[in-house]
Order: sequence, then structure tokens, then C-alpha cells
Amino acid sequence: MLDGKTKIGIDRIGVYVPDRALPLTDLAAARAVPAEKLLHGLGVHHMAVAPVYEDSVTLAANAAVRALAMAGDCGRTDPGEIGLLIVATESAVDHAKPVSIFVHELLGLAASCRAYEIKHACYGGTAALMTATEWIASGVARGRKALVVASDIAKYPPHSAGEPTQGAGAVAMVVAESPGLLALDVGASGVHAANVYDFWRPLDRSQALVDGKYSLDCYLAALAGAFAEYRRRALAELVALGDGELLTDHLAAILYHTPFPRMAWKAHRALVEDDWRTRADRAARFAAEGEAIARRSYAEKVEPSLWAAQAVGNTYTASLYLCLAALLERGADRLVGRRLGMFSYGSGSCAEFYSGVVAPGAQHLAREIGLAAMLERRRNVTVAEYERHHATASLRAEPAPERPPRDFAGPFFYRGTDDDRRAYAHV
Ligand code: HMG
Repeated sequence: MLDGKTKIGIDRIGVYVPDRALPLTDLAAARAVPAEKLLHGLGVHHMAVAPVYEDSVTLAANAAVRALAMAGDCGRTDPGEIGLLIVATESAVDHAKPVSIFVHELLGLAASCRAYEIKHACYGGTAALMTATEWIASGVARGRKALVVASDIAKYPPHSAGEPTQGAGAVAMVVAESPGLLALDVGASGVHAANVYDFWRPLDRSQALVDGKYSLDCYLAALAGAFAEYRRRALAELVALGDGELLTDHLAAILYHTPFPRMAWKAHRALVEDDWRTRADRAARFAAEGEAIARRSYAEKVEPSLWAAQAVGNTYTASLYLCLAALLERGADRLVGRRLGMFSYGSGSCAEFYSGVVAPGAQHLAREIGLAAMLERRRNVTVAEYERHHATASLRAEPAPERPPRDFAGPFFYRGTDDDRRAYAHV
């Protein structure tokens, strides 16, 4: 076991989103839905579209090369330092062969690096991050680092209510001692697990089934359970509340799993109410001014993390970490030394509320994330193009897909399936 003083957490972060996007105003027009419903009711203006030469393997590998290349003042991560690779996804490419082993090869990781894939709907990324963190805390890593990658393509049937909440992307995180970005409050987290049928994808289907409205209730119930447990631990181990203070006063930002940005508002509204109601002296004021209080808190603590999710849509396992990358890229300077709250929800369900403190010097690394630049260079697709990608990528035995365009930033792409074996290449 490492001594309790050694900091462990997210050392580097790499993000990758496909270079195609569908404006939701165009989807709204094609589906005869008011655009305002998607832009304001769901809070999303574009959704990322994975072209046929991208899948969860290439998204993961393309995010991971960016995480390993991030240099800061301390230099890049040598692939030889990675002793554990976990890829979290619910967009697996095979029932047996894991996404992780393709990623392991594409990155040139050592044969001695343990590699596996993990699944629990959108919670998988957090499950992987916690496993990697505890692997380091246990001492068996012996100075090696872990690479955690969350990679997904969110797919619902065309014309369904879930269709505008699709998206695609991956976030890779190097997890290490003395992390450069976010030191986690190891062990001080709240978990809430319950068997619910809110969102699922039977083995023979390529698109998710969802009980949409019920899934919102399950998410909010899990948030209440996980935050209550986090409160108990945080107050015992991390935070001493001053006179009249609330736990949320000690969280400079709160990030949520974001299937669509409006969900983050619903979640934060409920969490702020929960927090205010823990103090008799504050409960009466919340009853009178709750909406305004929650809105102010949301503008300060939540909105700065949502700009990428508004442009990308749901990235399932990667969603919470896309919000983290977005927050750090534009706000790390003001957050150094401050604690962030993180809420992860995976349908089915398992959820976790945890926290971490932004590391000294994180602002230098955060400048290298490059998420805004990646979004800027995307090309819009038409609804017809989106429908073609959606249909093609859902076939089990894909035809040899088209090659990526000349300016493809990748660098890894899917070459097609031959004799039921998938092949990947570097541009
Ligand atoms: P829906 O029936 O299309 O939409 O389903 P709605 O009628 O509920 O309207 C949505 C919002 O738009 C509402 O806002 C309307 O008022 C508003 P709210 O009242 O809720 O604040 N609206 C308008 N606003 C402005 N102008 C208008 C207008 N019309 C309506 N003209 C639903 C929405 C989210 C259910 C659907 O998109 C869906 O099923 N999505 C997929 C499921 C989902 O994302 N669930 C989230 C929680 S579960 C989760 O996060 C896990 C997940 O990521 C999977 C995993 O873990 O792997 C999904």
C-alpha cells in the first residue's frame, strides 16, 4: 500500500471526437420537430457523427495518442511506463475480443501491460478510473502508470426520441502518482447501484433501447443516493464545514454525466436542493428562492463544463470526462488547488459521486488538450449522410469502408473486416 499522503489521479487527458457533425437544426427540420426543443429543451446544437472508417477502437486509440503526447513541463508519457490499460465502452466491436487489445497494439504498449475492456453502460469509464487508481494505491503498480480510455458511439434508432441525444467520442486518461491534472480524493466517494431497466442493448442489437422518461428518474435517484454517501465520507475525511456553510460551497465546479446538457441542469437543481435542505437555517430560504439559487449555482459551477457536450452530444462512458477536459481547457487557471465534484451515472444502474483537487501547474497541461480546435475543424454532414453512416456502421459484417479524407487528423482508422477479422491502419 502507498502511504495515504501520495497523491494519485489524472495525470494527462486526451480527447478525440470524429471530424463529422450534424447540426441539430437540420435533424429537427427532417423530423418535423421544433428546433427549439433540441437546442433549448435538450441543450445540444450539434451531434458528432462517426464516419464508417471510425469505431470505438479508433476513437479510443486516437484519444490515447493525444494523452500520451501531452508534454507539459515534465515531458511525454513513454508507452513503456504503462502497466495497465483499461478501455471502457458499451460500443464493443466483438463479443469476445476486447477493444483494448487493438488499442494496445496500435499504441505499441509493452507485452507486460495488462489490457482489458470493461462495461457498465456510461459508468464504465469511472469504473475503469477507480480500478486504475486503486491499482496504484495498492502499491502493486510499482511506479508504473495506467491508461484508462472511455470510448463510445451513442446510437438510438432513427426517428426515436433518443435520436437527438446521440454522439461519439473518446477520452483517454493517464492515471499516475503525483498527477499533473487532478488529484483524486481516493476512497472518499459515494456509490449507488440498483438493478433498473432504464436503458439497455440486447446482444443482437446495434442500437440502444431506452425508457426515456424513466431513465431521467433513475439518474436523479442514483444522484441522490451517491451524493448522500459522498457527503458522509467527505465530511468525515475531506471537508470541515464552517458556520452556515454547505458542502457544495467547497466544490468549485460540479461535473455531471451529460447525456444531453439539460440533464446536467436537472441534476444540479436536485443536488443544490438536497444540499440546502441539510441545514434548517437554509431550507426556508430555498423554499422561497430555490429556482434563482439553483440557477446562480449552475451558471457558476456547471455551465463552464458543458460547451463540448453541447457540440458533441452523448459520448456514453466518455461524457463526464469530456466535461472535465472542456472545463480544464478553458478554466484550469482559476481552478488550481480547488476541489471539483464529479457525478458518473451508468444506466442499469451504477453511479458514483467523487471529487478531486486540480493540481498545481494543471493550467500549462490543459492548454494542450486542443478540444476547441478539434471541434472547429469538423465538417457538417447532411441528414442523408448521417443516415448513411448510421445504417452502414450498424451492419455486423461491414463492407470495406471508404478511406478517411486527406486532412483526417486520426491518425488511426478502421480498414474493414476480412474473414470476420477487423483491421486498422495508421494514415
Ligand atoms: P422527448 O419525449 O423527445 O422530449 O424525450 P420531451 O417531450 O421530454 O422534451 C424534452 C425537453 O424539451 C423538455 O424539457 C420539454 O419541455 C422541452 P423539460 O421539461 O424536461 O425541461 N421542449 C421544448 N423546449 C423549447 N421549445 C419547444 C419544446 N418542446 C419541448 N418547442 C428524452 C426526451 C431525454 C427522454 C429522449 O431524448 C431520450 O429518450 N433520450 C435518451 C435517454 C437519455 O438520454 N436519458 C438520460 C438519463 S439516463 C443516462 O444518462 C444514461 C445514458 O447515457 C446511457 C448509459 O448509461 O449508457 C442514456
